[in-house]
Amino acid sequence: MKKIAVIGAGTMGNGIAHVFAQFGYDVNLIDISQASLDRGLATITKNLDRQVSKEKISEADKTSTLTRIKTLTDLSSGVKDRDLVVEAATENIDLKLKIFKQMDEHAPAHCILSTNTSSISITKIAAATSRPEQVIGMHFMNPVPVMKLVEIIRGYATSDEVTQTIMAASRSLGKSPVEVNDYPGFVANRILMPMINEAIITLHEGVAGVEEIDTVMKLGMAHPMGPLQLADFIGLDVCLSIMHVLYDGFGNGKYAPCPLLVNMVTAGKLGVKSGEGFYSWTHGTKELVVADNFSK
Ligand code: CAA
Repeated sequence: MKKIAVIGAGTMGNGIAHVFAQFGYDVNLIDISQASLDRGLATITKNLDRQVSKEKISEADKTSTLTRIKTLTDLSSGVKDRDLVVEAATENIDLKLKIFKQMDEHAPAHCILSTNTSSISITKIAAATSRPEQVIGMHFMNPVPVMKLVEIIRGYATSDEVTQTIMAASRSLGKSPVEVNDYPGFVANRILMPMINEAIITLHEGVAGVEEIDTVMKLGMAHPMGPLQLADFIGLDVCLSIMHVLYDGFGNGKYAPCPLLVNMVTAGKLGVKSGEGFYSWTHGTKELVVADNFSK
C-alpha cells in the first residue's frame, strides 16, 4: 500500500497527509476549496519546519515530504488509483455519507475506505458503500504529527484482513494503533468527553474556577493540559456534538451535556477557533477571560 488520498485539508486532514508523506507514501490531498488546500499545505510546511528546527527530520526530509503531496479539488480523479483513502472532512453525517458514496464509486475495487470520524458510526458509513468489509475507522489524535495513538475502529462488517492491513499501515507511520469496536464514542471519546463534561459541570456548579480545575488535572493527574483548555482546543461545538452522540447512543442521563457547554456553544464561544472558550485566545496565547462569570 503506497498510494493514499486524504479528503479534507483542515486540521486533521493536513496532519494525516503530513505523516503519510513523511513516512514515504504518495499522498493526494483533496478538498473542495483551493484556499483550504493552500492553507493546509502552509500548515504542513510550518509543522515540518518545526520538526527540522527540533532536529527530528532533515531539510532534505522536509523537501521530499512536500514533493510527495499533490493537492486536488476533484475527488473522482484524486481517488481513482489509490490503495487507501482517509476521509477527514467536516464531522457531519450527511456530508460523510455523500463523500463515501463518491469514494466507493471512483476508487478502485481493492481500495480501503477509512474515516477519521471521532464519533459517527463506522457501520452506518460502511452501509452507504458497496464494500462494507473494506470500510474502517482511523481516528488520529490532534496534533497528528505528535500524538502516537491511532484508534482503529472495526465496523460490524470490517474484515480481519482489512483491519490487519490498517494496523500495519498505522505502525509504518510510527504510530501505536489500538483496535476497538464500533460503539458510540468508540473508546477515546467515550472516556475523554464525559471527563471534559464533568469538568464543565464542576465549573458550572462553582466548585472551582477555570484555572483551578485545569491545574488539579494537570498537576494531580499529569495530564499535559487541563480538560477545559483541551475543550477549547478540540472546539466546544465538537465536544457538545460528541456528548449528543453518547447521550443518544446509550440513552443514559450520565451523558447529558452540561447546560453551560450548551450555552457557550449557542453563544459562539467555541474555544481557540472562535477566539474565546473557557480561556481567551485572541492574543495567540491562553489568557483567563477577564469577566470570568463562570467561576466562584
Ligand atoms: N506538528 C509537529 N510537531 C509538533 C506540533 C505539530 N502540529 N505541535 C507540537 N509539536 C511538537 C513540538 O515541536 C515539540 O517537540 P519536542 O518534544 O521535540 O520539543 C512537542 O511537539 C511538544 O510541543 P511544545 O513543546 O510546543 O508544547 P507542549 O509541551 O505543550 O506539547 C502537545 C504540545 C503535545 C500538543 C501537548 O500540549 C499535549 O499533549 N496536549 C494534549 C493533546 C491531546 O490531548 N490531544 C488529543 C485531543 S482529542 C482528539 O484529537 C480526538 C477527538 O476525537 C476529540
